[in-house]
Amino acid sequence: MKIKRHNAAIRFTHWVTAASIFILLFTGFGQMPIYKRYYVDQIPGLAWSSDFLITLYIHYLAAIVLTFISVFYITYLIYSRAWDVFPRRGDFKESIQIFASMLGLAPEPENDKYLAEQRLAFAVTACSIIALIFTGILKVYKNIPGVHFSETTIFWLAQIHNLFTVVLLLSIIIHLLAFLIKDNRPLVASMFSGWIDREYVIHRHRKWWHRLTDASDLESASSSTNASGDEALV
Ligand code: HEM
Repeated sequence: MKIKRHNAAIRFTHWVTAASIFILLFTGFGQMPIYKRYYVDQIPGLAWSSDFLITLYIHYLAAIVLTFISVFYITYLIYSRAWDVFPRRGDFKESIQIFASMLGLAPEPENDKYLAEQRLAFAVTACSIIALIFTGILKVYKNIPGVHFSETTIFWLAQIHNLFTVVLLLSIIIHLLAFLIKDNRPLVASMFSGWIDREYVIHRHRKWWHRLTDASDLESASSSTNASGDEALV
């Protein structure tokens, strides 16, 4: 039996976010003249990478996509009330217990749909994206003729934008490294298909499994999706 883990809206959000962020990172780093210096622009197909204006326009386009998908996701959250991925009280402690369990030092806690560390990582990623969009909009605004920001404001806008770029980059690296852990690997296929094995859920996400099999959720089990189209047993 398979369980619906990610509906189409979440998969769409995830992959549009990922694609736009990869493009933003690549073109953002391109604003520094590193691709010419390190011969990246010699790679076939990447000659444009050292052209400041081209990378700037692609950066703007990808930023528009990221802003759109962020608004889409916030609207989705309000509509679906799918707060499972938001941090909860005790998540720090539980994350330490999960790490200890990987080293065989403690039993693994019963996990909900997302692990405590995933919920914390989500908060870091989401806050970084919000900070980047906010500072990015201000950076574009200050480029409009007639708009004047003080030197100090421009300096701090750039510092904050760069700082959250690094935080986001680190959070993405950790996100990807997580899939080197064998227990997490079945999740990768589910981010494409939406479905995950029931046995995996029972083994790794027992709290979520209990919620799904609660009397109220069993009602939705007869159809392929529940009200939010978020999770279901078939
Ligand atoms: C580059 C930017 C990326 C960002 C910002 C990002 C962010 C996130 C977030 C916030 C979630 C939780 C989603 C939810 O609401 O259900 C998630 C889940 C996931 N991401 Fe990414 N992601 C990125 C790239 C990737 C890539 C390249 C992969 C490829 C392996 C990937 C694989 C996954 C998987 C498998 C899950 C599902 C985890 C689960 O079901 O518990 N992500 N990602």
